[in-house]
Amino acid sequence: MGFVIGIVLGVASGFGLIMALVYYGNIRAKRRADLAATVAAFSRMTVQDARKLLTPEEYPPWVIFPQMEKLKWLNSQLEKLWPYINEAASELIKSSVEPVLEQYRPVILASMTFKKLTLGTVAPQFTGICIIDSDPGEIIMEMEVQWDGNPNIVLDVKTHVGVALPIQVKNIGFTGLFRIIFKPLVDEFPCFGAVSYSLRKKKDLDFTLKVIGGDMSIVPGLSDSIDNMIRDAIEDSITWPVRKIIPIIPGDYSDLELKPRGILEVKLVQAKDLSNKDLIGKSDPFASLFIRPLRNRTKKSKTINNQLNPIWNETFDFVVEDPSTQHLTLRVYDDEGLQPPQLIGCAHIPINVLEPGKVKIEWLTLVKDLEVQRDTKYRGQVNLELLYCPFGTENQILNPFSSNVPLTNVERVLKDTTDDDVSDIERKTSEKKHEVILRGVLSVTVVSAENLPVMDLTGKSDPYVVVSMKKAGTKVKTRVLNETLNPVWNQTFDFVVEDALHELLIFEVYDHDTIGKNYMGRYIMTLTRVLLEGDLYDVFDLDGTKSGRLALNLKWTPQPIMRDV
Ligand SMILES: *[C@@H]1O[C@H](CO)[C@@H](O)[C@H](O)[C@H]1NC(C)=O
Ligand SMILES: *[C@@H]1O[C@H](CO)[C@@H](O)[C@H](O)[C@H]1NC(C)=O
Ligand SMILES: *[C@@H]1O[C@H](CO)[C@@H](O)[C@H](O)[C@H]1NC(C)=O
Ligand SMILES: *[C@@H]1O[C@H](CO)[C@@H](O)[C@H](O)[C@H]1NC(C)=O
Repeated sequence: MGFVIGIVLGVASGFGLIMALVYYGNIRAKRRADLAATVAAFSRMTVQDARKLLTPEEYPPWVIFPQMEKLKWLNSQLEKLWPYINEAASELIKSSVEPVLEQYRPVILASMTFKKLTLGTVAPQFTGICIIDSDPGEIIMEMEVQWDGNPNIVLDVKTHVGVALPIQVKNIGFTGLFRIIFKPLVDEFPCFGAVSYSLRKKKDLDFTLKVIGGDMSIVPGLSDSIDNMIRDAIEDSITWPVRKIIPIIPGDYSDLELKPRGILEVKLVQAKDLSNKDLIGKSDPFASLFIRPLRNRTKKSKTINNQLNPIWNETFDFVVEDPSTQHLTLRVYDDEGLQPPQLIGCAHIPINVLEPGKVKIEWLTLVKDLEVQRDTKYRGQVNLELLYCPFGTENQILNPFSSNVPLTNVERVLKDTTDDDVSDIERKTSEKKHEVILRGVLSVTVVSAENLPVMDLTGKSDPYVVVSMKKAGTKVKTRVLNETLNPVWNQTFDFVVEDALHELLIFEVYDHDTIGKNYMGRYIMTLTRVLLEGDLYDVFDLDGTKSGRLALNLKWTPQPIMRDV
């Protein structure tokens, strides 16, 4: 809900907002002069102190101010200023937050405006402050803010059938870490051109909603949709890397804005050993993936029914805005049909571990909660292939799969689509990329296996391997080796591959019996690794069995690149 943004805005900027107010001239002259003096004192201290403090020879990267003193000073200043902030900010919040409110309004409501908004008498407390070592052209400050306020906020909500509901927001408890960036640094007072601020981390946000003279349950689902709306609105409008920029000295600050910096291509290949959430049968897993947890920027895979080792083989593209801090988050759910899906587990990976232009093949282990690592039960693993391509590097990075084709067609796409929004960039990128077809010959040598499970009464097995190319639908078999758990086949098969980027290679080990066969595990891989390495030998653990490893040698011989138009 907008008020939170407003509060965030109020609290977040801390002195940033105070400065803004001063410069926007929203308050009377006398008060403005008082405020200006305070702000001037503070900013002078900040810039000069910081410049002194930040000489890297003398101080470690995390320079802590004389913590207690600074906090005491800040909090007492804030307390003194709070009545003015409250008065001035209320209007500012109303006018800046109502449009946000409108944008995120749940469909079940016809309108949503502020009826009353004051921030109350309790000022937020700064509970921590530090300066982060960064490049010399900027000063980055992070402050932790805690607010158990007594604001008076009433929303005027109208439903489509014309019912007006005054909804009161009560008992707000908020803790968050705000980042404030002074950039660019200039010589003229107050030493910086603009202030940017952002909610770096939301630690805690509680509040209760109450219909004045009524009950929230009048409109079914109202409480939940308002709750969702709050989370989306905060995420989309103020949570890092989204930032607000307040120009202090006139100038062009467009380079401070958040912009798409690159594309992350994610191939969701498969998962294994997912924990079962169903009493009858097995889970029906699907995955949801996002970088920013906004509903319209979250991608969802297909549901694979009744399967704890699903193969998804789906590719998703994500716009990356800040590769140094953003993560890809993945959640795997059991699809429960009409009921809400049940979480099986989640995982995340920071973008900054990916070398631009290099494919990374990952098996991520699922956990229950990314924040709290208390529950360490094994929930399964998910296999992803990740490729991060920053914009504007087309001449420096070659396509990892073939130097004849540009790394991504992203750059070219971006050139004529700079005005498009994020979803257009993502869509056009995937369309272009699917035009790239890689053909060639893959030689697969099934070398040997070791420590296979016992299937026969004799304490041995008669193993053989079925090798299949899933997309092409071709299948070959090794010979059967009698009575061994450590067979050496050393047999080579050649496959003509028509679309290597989208193939899956499946190895299934069976025990030969006079009647039928017994399954002894499998290993599934994409061709990504062999495309990158050309020739690879490795030993792979079999899935779906208690023991067993398979030694393979793969060789790739590419054919000239073709592109469908
Ligand atoms: C997501 O929704 C927000 C709010 O409705 C909108 O501003 C934004 O453009 C949408 N983004 C995408 C990628 O569709
Ligand atoms: C994987 O997905 C791609 C793109 O949807 C498709 O062309 C290909 O046939 C799939 N491969 C397999 C092995 O199912
Ligand atoms: C394996 O055993 C079967 C009979 O059980 C026999 O027909 C076959 O020749 C044996 N193969 C080898 C390679 O010894
Ligand atoms: C597999 O066969 C090749 C030649 O066909 C031979 O050089 C190699 O030593 C064999 N490897 C094993 C493990 O038997």
